Amino acid sequence: MAMDRRPDDMVRITTPELADAFIAEQIEALRSQIGDKKVLLALSGGVDSSVVAAMLIKAVGDQLVCVHVNHGLLRKGEPEQVIEVFRNRMKANLIYVDATDRFLDKLAGVTDPETKRKIIGGEFIEVFAEEARKLNGIEFLAQGTIWPDILESEAGIKAHHNAGGLPEDMQFELVEPVKILFKDEVRVVGERLGLPAGMVYRQPFPGPGLGVRCPGAITRDRLEAVRESDAILREEFAKNGLEGKVWQYFTVVPDFKSTGVKDGKRTFDWPCIIRAINTTDVMEVTVEHLSDELIDHLVTRILSEVPGINRVLFDYTPKPPATVEYE
Ligand code: XMP
Repeated sequence: MAMDRRPDDMVRITTPELADAFIAEQIEALRSQIGDKKVLLALSGGVDSSVVAAMLIKAVGDQLVCVHVNHGLLRKGEPEQVIEVFRNRMKANLIYVDATDRFLDKLAGVTDPETKRKIIGGEFIEVFAEEARKLNGIEFLAQGTIWPDILESEAGIKAHHNAGGLPEDMQFELVEPVKILFKDEVRVVGERLGLPAGMVYRQPFPGPGLGVRCPGAITRDRLEAVRESDAILREEFAKNGLEGKVWQYFTVVPDFKSTGVKDGKRTFDWPCIIRAINTTDVMEVTVEHLSDELIDHLVTRILSEVPGINRVLFDYTPKPPATVEYE
């Protein structure tokens, strides 16, 4: 039977054996809930939706239909990884929608942070609903709800339904196979389901993606500078043993230019800001201090490899007063 609430005496899932037992139980519960019907899942490539996808593939195979919407604001290599892991390796029924132009056209010229977030969230639901309408016989909607989401929604802190907000006429029964788990347990379960460690242990990434790291009106060239510098930062953190140790790290390319000089000629380009932080609850955040050597190396690589950047800055501000993201 699927459980609605985490039992008070539930043992924390910290070992492969405990994860395997949970997976076996859930697979049985999913099969009895779903029968021979179809299930739809918005697969972002984040930890929770990826684990839900892997669990459902094991339980009901191609009765699961995954939709991966690329809003054009994903990190370098992310859509490719979703396709490789789920379509090629796990043989999932995966619909890949490249909606980049649609999102970027809607966002063109929009500077207000909250309006940007609303456009991204609203457009996401529209694209997902359009795909859902093309499919026949879907009765279930799977979601990567986890236990803290439920606790926070009960405490009135935030609404928990990830794919909530679908149009009124689209009613599905929910399937939430990791809803009694804490995040660390979801990761252990994900590993046992065969997901790559890089996917299961990845750092948090906001729904509006790189959109909130390209402050002001998003342009394709500045977005590309964010994406490329972020890829360099992630590569260097991995090489230097910081991946999995530092809680979150990313780059931001703000919408202003400054004077520089390159090959004896004047340049007028953007700065790239590096932010690396540690926290336990994201309410309070401290800054990770990098070694001088790593700082020098990051500066050199970003300046030589990312078009449009002529300065690299480090954000050493804790939260409070600064939030983690810039918008
Ligand atoms: P802030 O900027 O509020 O960020 O200090 C705290 C944490 O939340 C992440 N974040 C989001 N995650 N959707 C998400 O799923 C969002 O819209 C969103 N905004 C911020 C942020 O990356 C940080 O880890």
